[in-house]
Amino acid sequence: MKSAITVKRKSNHILIIFGIIAWICLHQSCTHDSLIMDDMEPDLMDTMDNPIDTMVVDTMDIDTTGNGMPCDPDIVYFQNDILPILQGSCAFSGCHDAASASDGVILDNYENVINTTEVEPFNLGDSELYEVITEDDPDDVMPPTGKMDNEKISLIAQWILQGALDLVCDEETSDCEIENVTYNGFVSGIFDTSCNGCHSTTAAFGGVILDTYNGVKLQVDNERLYGAINWDAGFERMPQGQDQLDSCTIAKVKSWIDEGAQNN
Ligand code: HEC
Repeated sequence: MKSAITVKRKSNHILIIFGIIAWICLHQSCTHDSLIMDDMEPDLMDTMDNPIDTMVVDTMDIDTTGNGMPCDPDIVYFQNDILPILQGSCAFSGCHDAASASDGVILDNYENVINTTEVEPFNLGDSELYEVITEDDPDDVMPPTGKMDNEKISLIAQWILQGALDLVCDEETSDCEIENVTYNGFVSGIFDTSCNGCHSTTAAFGGVILDTYNGVKLQVDNERLYGAINWDAGFERMPQGQDQLDSCTIAKVKSWIDEGAQNN
């Protein structure tokens, strides 16, 4: 029993020493001053004491193809929330832009962040990116100019805890109310205005009929409707020959489709 504990202690020490070596290797150039061994022990418990909001939101059922949808206040979006922080604090000349790539770390886009730093989805303790920004030792903290404010650290923490996904939302449509969109209250009116000159039962361009619920539902079930109004690759861009519907309208139609495209 006793010897098992000793062995565990030893392996803990070895781990810490490895950690220190890795730490030094990773932070040679973008840090400053000389690194003093005694101050180096990364103490995760300290970082856990930070007054940081690390509320976890279940992002497993986020539709990542819904990028560009209105921003959900409970979700941290990499493109909207995290990338600007990294660009503003880290990805500039001499530090972590692609040209400098200090310590091999590049923080100028999602792929580089994921590939050149240690980010462990849902796990702050194993995410070096989080560790270096919460480091208490002023000689070791990133950015070397001083700790970010808690709001930024908190956003990065939440992003990791939500799975470190590459999400983007459309801030312009964030006032757009996409709950409880109904066919008769909204969707059919859009088609009447923008589509049915060409897609009525009598016109039916391309065989597409959008002035009856059944006609619309057919296009939903065929998965031709959303792609056409969202101008996805592989679809005819609708309304044909005109400007795209505004993003709030598209988001509302998508919400109605996602809720089952009911005749409500
Ligand atoms: C000016 C005429 C016109 C208007 C307006 C128009 N469409 Fe179309 N639409 C067409 C034609 C023509 C086709 C057939 C295109 C083809 O197959 O080459 C078509 C095809 C489609 C298709 C099948 C596309 C595909 O890639 O499978 C859908 C869905 C559709 N329209 C939806 C709409 C919606 C929704 C609107 C309104 C937001 C709309 N259309 C407005 C002319 C129009």
